[in-house]
Amino acid sequence: MYEVRPGQSVELLKELHILTRDGKMNQDSRRKLKQVFHLFQFIEPLLKDIQQTHPDISLVDHGAGKSYLGFILYDLFFKSQEGQPHIYGIETREELVKHSQDLAARLDFKGMSFLNLSVAESISSPSLPAKVDMVTALHACNTATDDAIHFALEKQAQHIVLVPCCQAEVAAVLKRNKNRMLSQTPLVELWRHPIHTREFGSMVTNVLRCLQLEAHGYQLNVTELVGWEHSMKNELIIASRTNQPNRRSAKRLQEMLEMLGLEELSGRFFLPA
Ligand SMILES: C[S@@+](CC[C@H](N)C(=O)[O-])C[C@H]1O[C@@H](n2cnc3c(N)ncnc32)[C@H](O)[C@@H]1O
Repeated sequence: MYEVRPGQSVELLKELHILTRDGKMNQDSRRKLKQVFHLFQFIEPLLKDIQQTHPDISLVDHGAGKSYLGFILYDLFFKSQEGQPHIYGIETREELVKHSQDLAARLDFKGMSFLNLSVAESISSPSLPAKVDMVTALHACNTATDDAIHFALEKQAQHIVLVPCCQAEVAAVLKRNKNRMLSQTPLVELWRHPIHTREFGSMVTNVLRCLQLEAHGYQLNVTELVGWEHSMKNELIIASRTNQPNRRSAKRLQEMLEMLGLEELSGRFFLPA
């Protein structure tokens, strides 16, 4: 059973419909809150790690939606910190951006900004700093997670936390090249049937993402988020920058693309220059 923590904004929990107006726990939202809290257990030590070097932590949350994650992070961690830590929410749906902007103003959460941009646009947007400390993307749809990785690499993020959504691009290329691959490898059996194309495609996508991050000098912790009911969406990828590009992972990434007939996606899963 979830208990409201000391210092936590009851107003925020009401606004996020976690507490009803009379202060009771909204049963439907409990599950979501449990998930976000579970994720917070992974994120908090990373924030503390950044804090050891400077207090003005910058975090960018991609595909923010209603900014559940951003608001909870701000409430539990950012708002009590010294310096000027900041959370940016990136979201393409204008009404959600407006909703989050209004809520942050009502709660006086001054260190939160919400930008109506796609993840890809945010990479070059002047509204964001040249470097950021941490990037999160929780169920950012389709290739938005890949764009979030691109963003994090550009901004030299110290930590990246991803809970990927289903990605359709890899499965589409597997499907398109299936006939060619049938004569080349028995491994094609892994994605010959449409349901396998989708599931294998999802798994391969995350594997390629992991190799790409390692190739760019990140150390990974890839694990499962318990309590997430959708098995294809419960993978948690935490990447921490080490500045030591892994050449073996770069080679493996290239080999995987060739072996699976995905060479055309080498721009998506690009390697360090
Ligand atoms: C499944 S929701 C997840 C929302 C939130 N992160 C959460 O977990 O509650 C995905 C959100 O990403 C947004 N989105 C999808 N593609 C995007 C893109 N390319 N750039 C920015 N936002 C995107 C959608 O509008 C949607 O609000």
